[in-house]
Amino acid sequence: ASLFAADFQLWQKSTLNSILKNNQLRVCLEPGYVPFEMRDKHGRIIGFDVDIAKKMAKDMGVKLKLVPTAWDGIISALMTNKCDIIISGMTITQKRNLKVAFSDPYFLVGQTLLVNKKHSNVKSYKDLDKPGIVITTKLGTTGEIAARKLFKHATIKTFDSESAAVQEVLNNRADAFIYDKPYNELFMAGKGKGRLIFLKQDLTYEPLGFAINHGDPDFLNWLNNFLRQIKHDGTYEKFYNKWFRN
Ligand code: ARG
Repeated sequence: ASLFAADFQLWQKSTLNSILKNNQLRVCLEPGYVPFEMRDKHGRIIGFDVDIAKKMAKDMGVKLKLVPTAWDGIISALMTNKCDIIISGMTITQKRNLKVAFSDPYFLVGQTLLVNKKHSNVKSYKDLDKPGIVITTKLGTTGEIAARKLFKHATIKTFDSESAAVQEVLNNRADAFIYDKPYNELFMAGKGKGRLIFLKQDLTYEPLGFAINHGDPDFLNWLNNFLRQIKHDGTYEKFYNKWFRN
């Protein structure tokens, strides 16, 4: 009997149980990471992650509440119960994984470079690791981690948003912007077209996952089964084609 009591207690403490009781799934995310989460012209938050979150809430039978949260406070927001889950294009890193638990990966990215046109001779990131070169990225991201690791001799400048960081290169105040490939690919299809050089080579290996609090096997189990299902029943493909193929 005591074993059942322990299992029941675990379930009672599960975030999944509180989501069902509150009839609401609260998702922390930071708009700006195109096309995963961004604002449309009416200010509504849309994107690939948002469609996944909507489907998640639908399958749970609860309402969805998006909680826009600044990137450098997003893990502490989860840990202090401002939301139930982070769905925000977050790379599963071993360091973050010490603070939060991650679902299985739902996407794979790598860091890539958008380079100022004046460096038309540049073939590899190594050509830019020199004193006097300015590399920009977004504060607190894996872009910053990669920048500090790969560009030991250059100057690293971090910004609160991806758009401000890449704009520095367009405005000739920086030499290159380092960031996740999907963002850079879309930037090159729009504003960056003909104005920047895209070095597509992946400089890092970065699986993205949903982050939840530690100690919640029931919630983690639900998420991984949800992921497997949408990856094989056409749902994931539909969202992928909507946001990544145009
Ligand atoms: N994948 C990168 C990281 O985990 C960038 C994610 C930024 N996400 C966002 N919603 N702004 O650091």
